[in-house]
Amino acid sequence: MTRIYDASADATTRADGGSLLQVRDLRVEFSSSSGRVHAVNGVSFDVQAHELLGIVGESGCGKSVTSLAILRLLPKPAGRITGGTVTFDGTDLLHLGDEAMRDLRGRQVAMIFQDPMTSLNPVTTIGEQLVEVVQAHTKLRRKAAEQRAIETLELVGLPNAKARLKNFPHQFSGGMRQRVMIAMALIMGPKLLIADEPTTALDVTIQAQILDLIRRVAQETGAAVMLITHDLGVVAGMTQRIQVMYAGHIVETATTDELFAHPRHPYTVGLLRSIPRLDEGGSRELLPIEGLPPDLTRLPAGCPFAPRCAWAIERCLTENPPLGLPGSAEPATGVALGTHLAACWNPATDDEARAGVPANGHISAVEAAGRERAAAAATALGVEP
Ligand SMILES: Nc1ncnc2c1ncn2[C@@H]1O[C@H](COP(=O)(O)OP(=O)(O)OP(=O)(O)O)[C@@H](O)[C@H]1O
Ligand code: SF4
Ligand SMILES: [Mg+2]
Repeated sequence: MTRIYDASADATTRADGGSLLQVRDLRVEFSSSSGRVHAVNGVSFDVQAHELLGIVGESGCGKSVTSLAILRLLPKPAGRITGGTVTFDGTDLLHLGDEAMRDLRGRQVAMIFQDPMTSLNPVTTIGEQLVEVVQAHTKLRRKAAEQRAIETLELVGLPNAKARLKNFPHQFSGGMRQRVMIAMALIMGPKLLIADEPTTALDVTIQAQILDLIRRVAQETGAAVMLITHDLGVVAGMTQRIQVMYAGHIVETATTDELFAHPRHPYTVGLLRSIPRLDEGGSRELLPIEGLPPDLTRLPAGCPFAPRCAWAIERCLTENPPLGLPGSAEPATGVALGTHLAACWNPATDDEARAGVPANGHISAVEAAGRERAAAAATALGVEP
């Protein structure tokens, strides 16, 4: 297939060695009736040109809010960026004018959402919608814009693309609609594609086809991809690097192979145990992580995972660990991309990660504190603990 555009031509890593996207200490809050929701709490990461980065974590951990903040698409007035910087290809996105930001969205950074119907206009043909995107960003005439639309639909594997320009979104199956939305995201040859749960609404076979499509088109166009999902299984075969989020923090990051082979953060250990592993015969029972994420309006002083963590030690209850080399008490700065980092005072060993529990029947600090409280209450009441 001919390349209709080539993001790789100018999307190489910047001459100063910088990344395509640099996010530093990003913080986002929402005002709500129950108080301030601390949705993103000092997130720092990079995306290199052409890279496939996975962002995983349970529902509500801040995956979507992080990407919406990058694109300045937070719902207003509730959502607010309260700190940090976002630099894309050398441009400070948080201080970019509104018009320049609109032009950047779609042309340089595009997003694919879970539900295509939220991005496609139900009363306009897909041909019109694609042409509109091209003409909003270029001076191309209608015929040329239509030609680009046809080529992009062919790129995403839509059969009979020319004829289908006249169809409305409801005339496509779910999988085909998702292809149209991917075409819409790709039509301007963006350097970065943010795919937020792009396959959750689809059945399993179509899911695999769409993931494969995203990987293939990213390769063909040179776009970097940030793939957001709550499913570690999805990112396993697709990404080069993974970031695990919990309660608005990045709690672990490593290359995909390293993270699967040597998870260090107890939350990652739990996530890994909650998916079936083909290399283990696929027969293992799925183990949901017990407990619930913290209330983001009242974040604890210590590690936000402590109430659910069997590895918790006393320090975990009072100090939130920085993202650093596993076992180090210092935050990691200036380390090479792909370096394995975890935010944990008492990371799991390989044996513990395999077993899914700490060695020697360790009682977590939270459990120990609970037992102590129960014993004290029993003593105060004059009953045997
Ligand atoms: N408009 C809003 N008002 C108040 N809180 C919000 C709003 N939007 C998001 N949040 C809160 O921000 C936190 C992070 O939400 P986010 O949508 O990023 O989660 P997520 O990781 O994408 O989850 P999911 O896997 O369910 O998509 C959640 O606790 C959520 O309740
Ligand atoms: S061991 Fe401590 S710091 Fe590490 S995840 Fe558990 S509670 Fe958090
Ligand atoms: Mg989300």
